Amino acid sequence: TEYNPKEYTDVIIVGCGIAGLYTALMLPSDIDVTIVAKEPYKETNSYLAQGGIAAPCDKLNDTKEMFFNDTMVCGRGESDTEAVSILVNEAMDNIIQLEKLGVEFDKDNNGFLLGKEGAHSVSRIVRAGDSTGKSVMEALYHLAKSKKNINIRENIFVIDILTYANKSIGILILDDGRVKSIFSKYTIINTGGIGNLFEQTTNAKGINGDGIAMMLRANGIVRNMSYLQFHPTVFYNNRSLKQSFLISEAVRGEGALLYNERGERFMEKVHPMKELAPRDIVSLAIMQQIKKQITPCVYLDITHWNEEALKLRFPTIFGFCQRNNINMAKDLVPVAPRMHYFMGGIKVDIKGKTSINNLYACGECSCTGVHGKNRLASNSLLEAIVFGRRIARNIKENIYDIIDTDKDIRIVNVDSSYKIMEDEHTIAKWMGQYFGIDRTIAKVKQLENKINKAYCNAKKTNIICREEIEKVNMISVIKAIINDDLNKKITKQINLN
Ligand code: SIN
Repeated sequence: TEYNPKEYTDVIIVGCGIAGLYTALMLPSDIDVTIVAKEPYKETNSYLAQGGIAAPCDKLNDTKEMFFNDTMVCGRGESDTEAVSILVNEAMDNIIQLEKLGVEFDKDNNGFLLGKEGAHSVSRIVRAGDSTGKSVMEALYHLAKSKKNINIRENIFVIDILTYANKSIGILILDDGRVKSIFSKYTIINTGGIGNLFEQTTNAKGINGDGIAMMLRANGIVRNMSYLQFHPTVFYNNRSLKQSFLISEAVRGEGALLYNERGERFMEKVHPMKELAPRDIVSLAIMQQIKKQITPCVYLDITHWNEEALKLRFPTIFGFCQRNNINMAKDLVPVAPRMHYFMGGIKVDIKGKTSINNLYACGECSCTGVHGKNRLASNSLLEAIVFGRRIARNIKENIYDIIDTDKDIRIVNVDSSYKIMEDEHTIAKWMGQYFGIDRTIAKVKQLENKINKAYCNAKKTNIICREEIEKVNMISVIKAIINDDLNKKITKQINLN
């Protein structure tokens, strides 16, 4: 390991999604920020976000109370009320802040054009067409790039957080094949979710829980690790592509209906909100249909819209379907549920602080508790900006009191020099098979055996390379997911008896 004590910055942000860029821009310009990301900014889940950002506008009789209730109901009673109040109260302020930073949302003379999505009692999704994430990310990235105090370093793999006496002092990176360290006063983990632990996911290709694995190695606290969300309507193709294309819930928000292969509208019997029921309910209902029929997908029908209107409202989705020989104005769109979002993660308080001093986490890798057991649509970008700004404020209040970091300390917690013998595709296949929507204790125990075996068969190696560390990260996150799932299920069983 080679140390370069000269590499020093005030704040390190690991990951280049909306949480990282927005937090960096919310920090005062006399604070040096280094953003380190293993993939370019376009390869983030934020960039792929379609629907938009939920916020209660003074339109259509919406209120903060209604938004609060929708979020709580969707979270199955497991959302943290204080965190949800913050989310709801600070939503609009942060949307306005995004506009000030140059983001252009869809508007008319009466203000924001609002979309509707599942489990929202009114239309309240602020959007930029059907590629909101891309619009937000392009604006934030280019603004951040222009700032003298923000240094964005893409294509750099972060191996670990450096800690000393339960305090974060920087990170260890793999830069052009060399291991180096960067020291900081504060570090923010913003590495996104865990989608690629699964064979098929809506997530960007590099998203596999790295930041959460680093936190586990540093003995930090994680929470609700088994709370995963499967998006109900992901474009189905039989070519088993790893990254699957999302057909936004906003399409159902505009009236698209779901049919099984026999042409029956099954959601009417399942929930009063029908196609716009909470996501976990729609995904489960689709899985049940798929099990009863021959085709491994159901069908989304928005053919009551004409081509021009569809192209205008959903240009990205229409274009994707067209390239796959589906004309949304005439044809049904084949869809199936796929791994989409991670509600669990690094436990943080309402200031975004983790259990390790001077270390924050933000966005999908963090668990503020707002999403409970099931996230409400378009609350993910919202959580990232609301809590990102809180982190920036907290750092601003405290950073000037920090005299120096312990930059000479040579303590690291790297435990990544293992070679896992199974390849990542096999591991991701297991997750699809044993940890899907319809998982049972028996299936999860089978998965546990396989993962334990893979871990036991791991060989010690001196070679530190990104692919091997990513596999070690995958395995450690999966172990934490399994433990949480079995603990929660077994506790529940005991309670029921
Ligand atoms: C979508 O557009 O359906 C995804 C929005 C979200 O995940 O909240």
